[in-house]
Amino acid sequence: MSLDAFLSELGQLTTDATAAFSAAADTESLESARVEFLGAKSGQLKTVQKGLGTVDKADKPLAGKSFNETKQKVEAAFEEAGSRLAGSAIRQEAADFDPTEPGRRTRIGHAHPITQTIEELKDIFGRLGFNVVEGPEIEDEWHNFEALNIPRSHPARDPLENFYLATATRHSDSPLLLRSQTSTVQIRVMENTPPPVRIVSLGRVYRPDTADATHYPMFHQIEGLLVDKQVTMADLKSVLRMLCSSYLGEDVHVRFRTSFFPFTEPSVEVDMSWHGGWIEMGGAGMVDPNVLRAVGYDPDEVIGFAFGLGVERLCARRHAVRDIREFYKNDARFLHQF
Ligand code: DAH
Repeated sequence: MSLDAFLSELGQLTTDATAAFSAAADTESLESARVEFLGAKSGQLKTVQKGLGTVDKADKPLAGKSFNETKQKVEAAFEEAGSRLAGSAIRQEAADFDPTEPGRRTRIGHAHPITQTIEELKDIFGRLGFNVVEGPEIEDEWHNFEALNIPRSHPARDPLENFYLATATRHSDSPLLLRSQTSTVQIRVMENTPPPVRIVSLGRVYRPDTADATHYPMFHQIEGLLVDKQVTMADLKSVLRMLCSSYLGEDVHVRFRTSFFPFTEPSVEVDMSWHGGWIEMGGAGMVDPNVLRAVGYDPDEVIGFAFGLGVERLCARRHAVRDIREFYKNDARFLHQF
């Protein structure tokens, strides 16, 4: 083969390959163009290379050099076409992206509705100048009953009404139990603090009740205690009314019904009306002089009020939850609504 013929074949190949690569509109057509021109077995470049062997010996160096240049040119054209297609894929993706569509939101957990309620109640009482204190969930009979003026004969002390801790009872003279009320914290605070006292305590209490829509063997109470020189039931009612209307966000009426608790005198049941209908929220009253004496206070010097309300009830009321068992099922579909 003459040098001229060989060089013109190279020239033709360069033109054809470059045209094919730049015409490729997608990766498949680029790939078939690659096989056509650069294919290892029967690509056109391979075929032309065979002609190199037939060129005159004297012309071989030039023919070889031209062949290599052609090969580089064709390969470069192929690479360029590849990057052109990749770039357009990215541009296409960018064009398909719709910034007005809502994004995919990551689901983040949040505090349990009862915990949310507790936090909110703490805030409300903080603003009213009450300190938040905590007490132990395992109690002795002094704090759960005796000091609260609950005598041994009182039905609330029946072992069947309480969760006594069997092991502790066996090994000590003073039986222990899971506290049945947060009123225990009144005693713990007054034993350690001289008056005046203004506290709330929020936490779990335990009673062997059968679970139903309004009962659960474990639930939460908010306990309040205010002891000072001059305190009246009007103060008590005002505080409860502020609490309820702050929490429920509207003006709530509070009603007192006469009742009896060993640790208050007089004692009342606290009812709240909201969106029609009254519901019982807990108990309250003026701290019984016997309680003040039990903690070393002088009932002739100080006077106080106390109250204990159900946290589940407040929370259920606000969110129109009909069955408090829902709070403890750990069903994310329920909990996610709060
Ligand atoms: N401890 C009472 C109970 O669990 C509720 C209660 C009533 C608390 C009157 C008080 C109170 O502080 O004054 O049923």
